[in-house]
Amino acid sequence: MPRRRFLGSSVAAVGAAALPARARSATAKMTEFPRGFVWGAAAASYQIEGAATADGKGLSIWDMFCKKPGAIWKDQSGDVACDHYNRWKQDVALMKSLGLQAYRLSIAWPRVIPEGTGATNAKGLDFYDRLIDALLAAGITPWVTLYHWDLPLALYHRGGWLNRDIGNWFADYATLIGKRLGDRVRHFMPLNEPQVFLGAGLIQGRHAPGDKLRFAEFLLAAHNTLLAHGRSVQALRAACKAAPRIGTAQAGYNYVPATDSADDLRAARTRYFATPDDSYKQNAFWLDPMIRGRYPEDALKLYAASMPPIRAGDMETIKQPLDFLGMTLYSADPVRKGKDGKPEVIPWPAGYPITGFEWAVAPSILRLIPTWLHERYKLPIVIAENGLSVRDWVAADGSVHDPDRIDFTARYLRELATAIAAGVPVEAYFHWSILDNFEWAEGYKHRFGLVYVNYATQARTVKDSGKWYRDVIASNGRTLFGTGAPDPRPY
Ligand code: FCB
Repeated sequence: MPRRRFLGSSVAAVGAAALPARARSATAKMTEFPRGFVWGAAAASYQIEGAATADGKGLSIWDMFCKKPGAIWKDQSGDVACDHYNRWKQDVALMKSLGLQAYRLSIAWPRVIPEGTGATNAKGLDFYDRLIDALLAAGITPWVTLYHWDLPLALYHRGGWLNRDIGNWFADYATLIGKRLGDRVRHFMPLNEPQVFLGAGLIQGRHAPGDKLRFAEFLLAAHNTLLAHGRSVQALRAACKAAPRIGTAQAGYNYVPATDSADDLRAARTRYFATPDDSYKQNAFWLDPMIRGRYPEDALKLYAASMPPIRAGDMETIKQPLDFLGMTLYSADPVRKGKDGKPEVIPWPAGYPITGFEWAVAPSILRLIPTWLHERYKLPIVIAENGLSVRDWVAADGSVHDPDRIDFTARYLRELATAIAAGVPVEAYFHWSILDNFEWAEGYKHRFGLVYVNYATQARTVKDSGKWYRDVIASNGRTLFGTGAPDPRPY
């Protein structure tokens, strides 16, 4: 396969096929992001907080899973992580020094309700109270996720996501947070990447709790998770003093056209929304229920024998008005129109650039996916996570030089700008991550931060990319555009 047939990321080629003339001319003139665009960065409780058992915190499934020999790279854990629980003041000051406008954080459910239901933990709630106040005082808008994978262990023992009662448990927890923080927090993304925490945690056994269940059980857990999503949206709307803006933080398989032909573009889009196999990541399987109030027809047909019973009223509960559609976007696979006319996923060519995680560099997803999602669901888009892991270290001159992160992020952001110029409403971008942190089963092998963390001393060093991002934010993206010439392919 000649290299020229693979694109995936070139504005010039894919963009020309994908966008109407209006969009192309808008791109040429694009010199900065729209006023009001929100520049942020993200992190999650278990990945940075540490203090696993401090001040009355209950255990989570990750506290348990990390103790299982061999479960995590080098048997590491989030017991201490970035010690953010104790160093939050310094971390907020760092965010402020970068000019961050928004910070996406998650609340550790077992820190505030140690057993998942029932008694609350005042010290845990105080921690988030203070953190939110400090962020606001620093001019940083908090965007709060209620569940970034640290399920209270006590709830796992009651069946976790397989127990339909989790809708009630999660709604009660959402009510608590809404009442406590909803006078100051306006933005919520209740669940982070259900596909991933159920797929990796309940089917593949790679993530906590480490189970390897049947696909039918996954579908049951998925339905319960969707119900929990709907119930939490209702709970937040009822409990928050200031009307909240609530959205998703979904993940999914991403596809880009293998060539610049209109056929391949159509094939990639079709594949993105289709349910062709029993994969657990299909986007429409999650978003159609949340936004349209029904599972996609092709999924219902394919999974007919394994779907759980859907009770009267379930789909109404799942479909709640949402204010934005948040997606985490990292990588993609190329798709072409196959010989039978159906979309065919093909490999990247040998030597195609990959990140430390071995995820292919695919900048055009920040243009294509928001465009497709907005066409189908009509909601404003938020980039809930985007970034890459690099094997960073502190150089002899005391700095952390990470030109790959700068190049990667600039390319992705320029593609995002193209979508915005074409009329796709994109509200915010959250870089993953503000700090290097505990990368789940991969332990501390991967560094995703704009800020380097020395885990032995807990010293923080702003990487070159952190300084670069500070300038991007300060200029509202102007520094990204340079000559306006299209990016060359990344290989
Ligand atoms: C996402 C997770 C986040 C982090 C990044 C690299 O899937 O939401 O916690 O692990 O990947």
